[in-house]
Amino acid sequence: MEKVVSGIRPTGNLHLGNYFGAVTNFVRMQNDYNCYFFIADWHSLTTHPKPEDIVQSVDTILAEYLACGLDPEKSTIYVQSDVKEVLELYLFLNMNAYLGELERVTTFKEKARKQPDNVNAGLLTYPTLMASDILIHRALKVPVGKDQEQNMEMARKCARRFNNIYGVDFFPEPQSFYFSEKAVKIPGLDGSGKMGKSEGNCIYLKDDAKTIQKKVMKAVTDSGPTQPNSPKPEVIENLFTFLNIVSEPDTVKFFEEKWNDCSIRYGDLKKQLAQDIIKFTDPIRERIAQYSADKDLLHKIAAQGADKARQSAQETIKEVRHIIGFR
Ligand code: TRP
Repeated sequence: MEKVVSGIRPTGNLHLGNYFGAVTNFVRMQNDYNCYFFIADWHSLTTHPKPEDIVQSVDTILAEYLACGLDPEKSTIYVQSDVKEVLELYLFLNMNAYLGELERVTTFKEKARKQPDNVNAGLLTYPTLMASDILIHRALKVPVGKDQEQNMEMARKCARRFNNIYGVDFFPEPQSFYFSEKAVKIPGLDGSGKMGKSEGNCIYLKDDAKTIQKKVMKAVTDSGPTQPNSPKPEVIENLFTFLNIVSEPDTVKFFEEKWNDCSIRYGDLKKQLAQDIIKFTDPIRERIAQYSADKDLLHKIAAQGADKARQSAQETIKEVRHIIGFR
């Protein structure tokens, strides 16, 4: 089976947008590929988190991904910082990465603008660390969002350059596998286009029934249709998009008809939507709670994953050392 690698940024809790985006795609890929999924805790250092934040966020994100269906029997699930071989490759790759090309990466420029007092070297070499994550397993495919295009281009450049410098055909060029094309887009309920952490409009998987209800009932609507069969304004379309994802087809049909004959009551629609979201997320939330409460299990899973990831990493790094001349 082809090797797939992807990194998960340990930033906060998963929301429905994540769930129907990356997470569902990861879960599906487990059956068709030899998947390596890791929590990118080294990468998170580029923004200088506190020690307790790192521990906390790694445990949280691991529990949430497992609750969503990442399966340690099918995939290799590990924490980046457990596999030190990545660092050695990072060092080697950095020797052949150039200031100019690293400075041109858009995400670097953006970060530099956002945290002008903390434009650290780790931020600059974020792409070479990411390349190491991927090349350490000699992975062929990398499921990422569109925003990772430049980082992926750097990873391919690192692979090509290594092969050229040493006259070998060692690293395959990893291809991006854009899950955004297949992802179901979850709209925001505040009238904005999409659900996102920076938009502050998220329904989190860990949210309890009451919280979900409150958030859905606050959803932005309009004053209602005045003519039969009129097109829906975006905020209403968003509610229907949501309904289509979590509700029964009959429910959707019911509200479509209500919209079309102008008898729709948004309060009813929201109540139904909240109920269906709760029904959908309830079992996930329960599993999150179970995993979160069982640190021993979490750490056992991470340790097992690290062992498997290390095996694969060691095979690569041994050959890399030899090729470079450390014999
Ligand atoms: N940069 C990725 C993101 O921001 C996370 C990441 C780190 C990653 N290393 C990776 C993704 C390796 C794929 C492969 O989402």
